[in-house]
Amino acid sequence: MDILPNHFEYENGILHAERVSALRIAEDIGTPAYVYSSAAIAERFAALQSGLSGIDHLICYAMKANSNQAILKLLKGLGAGFDAVSGGEYSRAIAAGVPGEKIVFSGVGKSASEMKTALECGIRQFNVESEPEISLLNEVAVSLGAKAPVAIRVNPNVDAETHEKISTGKSENKFGVPIARARSIYSEAAKLPGIEITGIDIHIGSQVRSIAPFRKAFSMVADLTAVLRADGHAISRLDLGGGLGIAYNRRGETSISPEDYCRTILESVGHLDCEIEIEPGRFIVGDAGILLSTVLYVKDGSDRRFLVVDAAMNDLMRPAIYDAYHEIVPVFEPGSRRDWERVDVVGPVCETSDTFARHRLLPKFSEGDAVAFLSAGAYGSSMASEYNTRALVPEVLVKGGTHAVIRKRPSIQEIIERDIVPAWL
Ligand code: LLP
Repeated sequence: MDILPNHFEYENGILHAERVSALRIAEDIGTPAYVYSSAAIAERFAALQSGLSGIDHLICYAMKANSNQAILKLLKGLGAGFDAVSGGEYSRAIAAGVPGEKIVFSGVGKSASEMKTALECGIRQFNVESEPEISLLNEVAVSLGAKAPVAIRVNPNVDAETHEKISTGKSENKFGVPIARARSIYSEAAKLPGIEITGIDIHIGSQVRSIAPFRKAFSMVADLTAVLRADGHAISRLDLGGGLGIAYNRRGETSISPEDYCRTILESVGHLDCEIEIEPGRFIVGDAGILLSTVLYVKDGSDRRFLVVDAAMNDLMRPAIYDAYHEIVPVFEPGSRRDWERVDVVGPVCETSDTFARHRLLPKFSEGDAVAFLSAGAYGSSMASEYNTRALVPEVLVKGGTHAVIRKRPSIQEIIERDIVPAWL
């Protein structure tokens, strides 16, 4: 099958992640299970590193895509910085040994205690998103006798041409300050004793698959840099956000190559003598992970056949929330003579939205067959929940011929014991 991402392939008829058999993982730890390839992560990271090699830069991996400690450690070892969007993510990065100077703190609703933690343990920069946030950050910094390094996120009103639920750069979106008001907001912020302006931040959306919106937004950042510098601000860093998309439908879709993306950055802002930050999440881990599952039942409805699998919307939410497409492949290589049929692939959760694919042409499956959802490394496990009291899916990281469980499946008992029944009941 030609649709497998790099570092996943059939060997002797069985799907492998690098040199480890997916069947063996499924048998060892059961399904559903996430499996990641460390070589695939390293390869994506290296593509961006080399694309930006001509310029001072830091790739701040957007942890929200996948924040497992092992993945963070792997990326830290490759030289990544990190983009955290909550005190929890910030603490995860610190726990993985990341120095505060390599963490940017983004997000539209940081609390005073989150700001305090970051200022005390070290932070590269806060990407701030509103006037009241700047004023709170100033107060917190002053109370600690500190100065908070700040980039102000501007909203350029650029259409990222992506799914409306993950588009962030339009004026109706809650993110950033309107670019038209940036000058006055920068000049007010610069007067505050607890704030140190370091740069400009932008993020127009996620799963962006055409270069034009990036080019437009980056050139607006370049123009704003000149304007703010003329106003006397020291703009030394430009955080261009994340958003670089991947091709989920691996037969039909295309996305932007990392080379084109990096070239666009260099062309748009390379002349400004700024340190460039980018915050990719999906591009680095998306195609580096699969979700292994097992067919429980082949069920015939009145007008269609359902494959009921043991993974569900709580394990991989993207199809339910965004109608997202994920390739589905058998763990046993489909031979050329294997029959194909159209099926709906559904999970066991009691909602119709628990549907991974509708009317999808797939090789014929039988009950007990292992299947893999591709491109599940980003926003898979990190968005999972225990809805329907289904245990969080375990995660496995492969490196060459070895693999390790990097998060174990909790027992149902552990889940139940988190609840507290008051004595008066
Ligand atoms: N920086 C900021 C400020 C962000 O809000 C995001 C994503 C990123 C970076 C990383 O974007 P990426 O490179 O991964 O596209 N759950 C959705 C995606 C939500 C993205 C939210 N923000 C999904 O599964 O498609």
